[in-house]
Amino acid sequence: MDITFLLNGETVTLSQVPPTTTLLDWLREERRLTGTKEGCNEGDCGACSVMVIDSRGARALNACILFLPQLHGKAVRTIEGIAAPDGSLHPVQQAMIDHHGSQCGFCTPGFIVAMATAHLNGARDHDLQLAGNLCRCTGYAPIIRAAEAAAKKPVPDWMESDKSFFLPEISAGGAGGRQPPAGQHFRPHSADELAALYLEQPSATLIAGATDVGLWVTKQLRDLHPLIFLDGCEDLKHIEIGEHTVRIGAMVDMNTMAKAMQPLHASYGELIRRYGSVQVRGAATVGGNIANGSPIGDNPPALIALGATLHLRQGESRREIPLQDFFLEYGKQDRAPGEFVEAVSFPRRPDRVKCYKLSKRFDQDISAVCGCFNITVENGAVADARIAFGGMAGIPKRATHVETALIGQSWCKSTITAAQQAFDADFSPLSDMRASALYRLEGARALLARYFAEDMGETASVREVLP
Ligand SMILES: Cc1cc2nc3c(=O)[nH]c(=O)nc-3n(C[C@H](O)[C@H](O)[C@H](O)COP(=O)(O)OP(=O)(O)OC[C@H]3O[C@@H](n4cnc5c(N)ncnc54)[C@H](O)[C@@H]3O)c2cc1C
Ligand code: FES
Ligand code: FES
Repeated sequence: MDITFLLNGETVTLSQVPPTTTLLDWLREERRLTGTKEGCNEGDCGACSVMVIDSRGARALNACILFLPQLHGKAVRTIEGIAAPDGSLHPVQQAMIDHHGSQCGFCTPGFIVAMATAHLNGARDHDLQLAGNLCRCTGYAPIIRAAEAAAKKPVPDWMESDKSFFLPEISAGGAGGRQPPAGQHFRPHSADELAALYLEQPSATLIAGATDVGLWVTKQLRDLHPLIFLDGCEDLKHIEIGEHTVRIGAMVDMNTMAKAMQPLHASYGELIRRYGSVQVRGAATVGGNIANGSPIGDNPPALIALGATLHLRQGESRREIPLQDFFLEYGKQDRAPGEFVEAVSFPRRPDRVKCYKLSKRFDQDISAVCGCFNITVENGAVADARIAFGGMAGIPKRATHVETALIGQSWCKSTITAAQQAFDADFSPLSDMRASALYRLEGARALLARYFAEDMGETASVREVLP
């Protein structure tokens, strides 16, 4: 299947390109567009940032973990396409010069692209927008000053032009989404088409945002085939907020998810704000974050605490299971061959949810412990409690003993102190590079105390980077 996209204003069609070629490798090796830099090659540093425009608007993404088929029907701008065709500088470029925002310059193209994307989107939360771009010599103050100065300038005309390129019929798969050349890739147009295709090809690797699968290729050098790219399935990208239920399609990305959760469960929205970086959140999907079965994924504990149901589909047959039952043991999920995650849903209830992420860095770090609490108090006593943790076991797991120790008890400090002891019955965490077992257990106990303190209106004494 051909891959067609707009690159810095020029239409590109690729016919015989290996589908796990990353945009970064292709830009540098095939197009000799070497302005886009390779730092980590695993999504951590932002040196490879490019701007991608599609139905979701403009996003900064990491080209090192972006496969070419994911660009089909979209517009891409690299650092070479940020200035005007006549060479006039973009406001962020001029501001970086004026404010001395660059020294060695290795990080600079990635910063410029991320800043130009934020500028185009009118985003003013510069710390957040640039948390995924690492600079090791200039220091961030001049860069942030440059972003602030550029924000006062209008979006240049040439940056608006890509929006008219986005062609829904191409983005939705174009002709022949089910007809790949041998050894190539599939790109279904809808969940129905995906269901039929995956049934025929149960050994295929599904690729959603590729923030995991990208690393299987760039770091583990795995040879993957056949491949099914889910990006063309627009019907999996919706969030439906009903009167009683919230349903999230598997292909909803984390930036969209964070925005949708803020008004419903602000603490969950805040948790996702700390998920990777703006570039990672723009690619990673809720379906991928569940399906990969990771014990340290951030969405599963929050969704389990919310009482989520997982919607699985195999061909025409669908089944629903409590999300917590999906995770059987480390590396093993309740998913049959040819079955995929179609959506996840949870009931709408008054917001009692708090999500806490413990990690070594505030931004761009995987959780050592992620604790999510949903405790209902009626007439001074605990009526219901759903508590789930990541990082405490081989799977995301509920703290059932802690819940039992809380339910029916009065909502007071002595109940919390007693319930804290129950963590030993729920979890025997491991020590690893992120945290020791003792830190994890003590951290989990402290988070329960924090939930209670915050519920009592106290300000918990924690160090946090505020926006
Ligand atoms: C720099 C960086 C930072 C990160 N930070 C965080 C973080 O803070 N918190 C966190 O939780 N994770 C983090 N991650 C991990 C990663 O973002 C997540 O695991 C992510 O959610 C995976 O989603 P994806 O859409 O990218 O999945 P992919 O990489 O496309 O796929 C992941 C797995 O899920 C399968 N899959 C995808 N969609 C479906 C579906 N609908 N049905 C069935 N199977 C499916 C794929 O086949 C694959 O096995 C980070 C990753 C990187 C690279
Ligand atoms: S090279 Fe570091 S994020 Fe891509
Ligand atoms: S200027 Fe050298 S890494 Fe940023």
